[in-house]
Amino acid sequence: MNGKIHFLAVFLVNFHLIRQVHSLVEFTNIKCEVADPDFCNIEYCYLKSVNRTYKYYSLKVNLFKIPITKVKVNAAIYKFANGYKPFMYNVTVDACKFLKNQKSNPIFGYFYGYFKDHSNMNHTCPYDHDIVVDKLTTAFFNQRAKYLLPFPDGKYLIQMNVLVHDISRAVFKLYNVLS
Ligand SMILES: *[C@@H]1O[C@H](CO)[C@@H](O)[C@H](O)[C@H]1NC(C)=O
Ligand SMILES: *[C@@H]1O[C@H](CO)[C@@H](O)[C@H](O)[C@H]1NC(C)=O
Ligand SMILES: *[C@@H]1O[C@H](CO)[C@@H](O)[C@H](O)[C@H]1NC(C)=O
Repeated sequence: MNGKIHFLAVFLVNFHLIRQVHSLVEFTNIKCEVADPDFCNIEYCYLKSVNRTYKYYSLKVNLFKIPITKVKVNAAIYKFANGYKPFMYNVTVDACKFLKNQKSNPIFGYFYGYFKDHSNMNHTCPYDHDIVVDKLTTAFFNQRAKYLLPFPDGKYLIQMNVLVHDISRAVFKLYNVLS
């Protein structure tokens, strides 16, 4: 009897730990999806957890149709509540126009602010090189989300869809937990 209860307790504790680890992995994550393999390739795309507080996103995209002079980006925020639901922003911009005049779209400027200092995309069009986002830390991400616009705690997804001639070519999803 005692043996059984012990087994059950160990099982429940382990189950709980596994669930916790599982949800941390799921809710802090990055996914890069190629929608058009003739347009681009994802060389790498990962979240690296150095320790509990130091985690970062890195990705590299190879572009096959260079130079890129026309590209649209749809950026949207989702918040988790029984699945990811649209939250606050959903904007589509002509990225080349935006890069020429970053004040033209403050909402997109907000999204761009997550990447510009951590990537080689911080220049005007054309793009004729691979795109790299290097060590964008979750701490930086949290700081922007919590203090620039005070987002409530929760699980968030920032999704960016890259469109050329209104056809999706790649989708980037950054998942993070604000607590
Ligand atoms: C996490 O790793 C970073 C980078 O190596 C280090 O500076 C920091 O002190 C570490 N934090 C903890 C809590 O170990
Ligand atoms: C955001 O807008 C795009 C384009 O208008 C639409 O396809 C998409 O479903 C919208 N997403 C959300 C989360 O509202
Ligand atoms: C782009 O980012 C890099 C790396 O942070 C920086 O060295 C460079 O000055 C930035 N360029 C512009 C135009 O902001």
